[in-house]
Amino acid sequence: MMNSYSEKFKKMKIAGNLASKTLDMITDFIKPGVSTNKIDKLCYEFIKDNGGFSAPLFYRGYKKSLCTSLNHVVCHGIPSEKILEDDDIINVDITAIVDDYHGDTSRMFCLGKPSVKANNLINATYEAMMKAIKILKPGIKLGDIGNEIQSYVEDKGFSVVRDFCGHGISNVFHEYPNILHYGKKNTGITLESGMTFTIEPMINYGKYDVKILDDGWTAVTKDKSLSAQFEHTVGITENGYEIFTKSDKNYTRPPYI
Ligand code: MF3
Ligand code: CO
Ligand code: CO
Repeated sequence: MMNSYSEKFKKMKIAGNLASKTLDMITDFIKPGVSTNKIDKLCYEFIKDNGGFSAPLFYRGYKKSLCTSLNHVVCHGIPSEKILEDDDIINVDITAIVDDYHGDTSRMFCLGKPSVKANNLINATYEAMMKAIKILKPGIKLGDIGNEIQSYVEDKGFSVVRDFCGHGISNVFHEYPNILHYGKKNTGITLESGMTFTIEPMINYGKYDVKILDDGWTAVTKDKSLSAQFEHTVGITENGYEIFTKSDKNYTRPPYI
């Protein structure tokens, strides 16, 4: 079958697969004692050795290859000499470019055995993303995606971050449309086959308010509560969806075994 978008989907799948392979690869290295710079370096090399490039590097002045967001960091945590410790939870967010196309995906990792609290938050965040993905098909509205996520996590007492959203993605890293992770059913633009975008809910244990640190990137919860995020890059097909960033190892959420 030839669609006008099949060439684009082929490339998105290749880039998405490299991004998810990078997360698969780094899983074994995420242990107490490792620095977030080490994670950055290993992923940078892995992506390069596999024919890609890390999209965050040099993106709007960003100086690292990926984001490492720990504990109360909501997103855009910058790799540093910071050493991971027992009980930390961390999101690693990879964007690989291959042949001009982008694959953008992130997962949570737990150092040691997570607290019940952290575990509940992480599971709810993963489930919320997957619930939203499962409704994807031509004809639904953008608001249906947000509603799926918001109603699920708020029911559990968690909150949806408002200040960051998913995004269209293809040969451009961040493009139209914005994919809000909250919203009302049957509102917003209609999904059409051929669209490619990310779903990447950031869910807070406490309130949804965030603030940006002085480095200009790191977003943290204002109330210092824990935050979790997962991200997939997806495409809308004739009658459903395709996930471009699915793990070859079937790694979904922690524990990765
Ligand atoms: N990967 C992030 C996203 O999901 C964007 C990171 S941009 C950076 O959209 F510059 F902060 F790395
Ligand atoms: Co990302
Ligand atoms: Co993204």
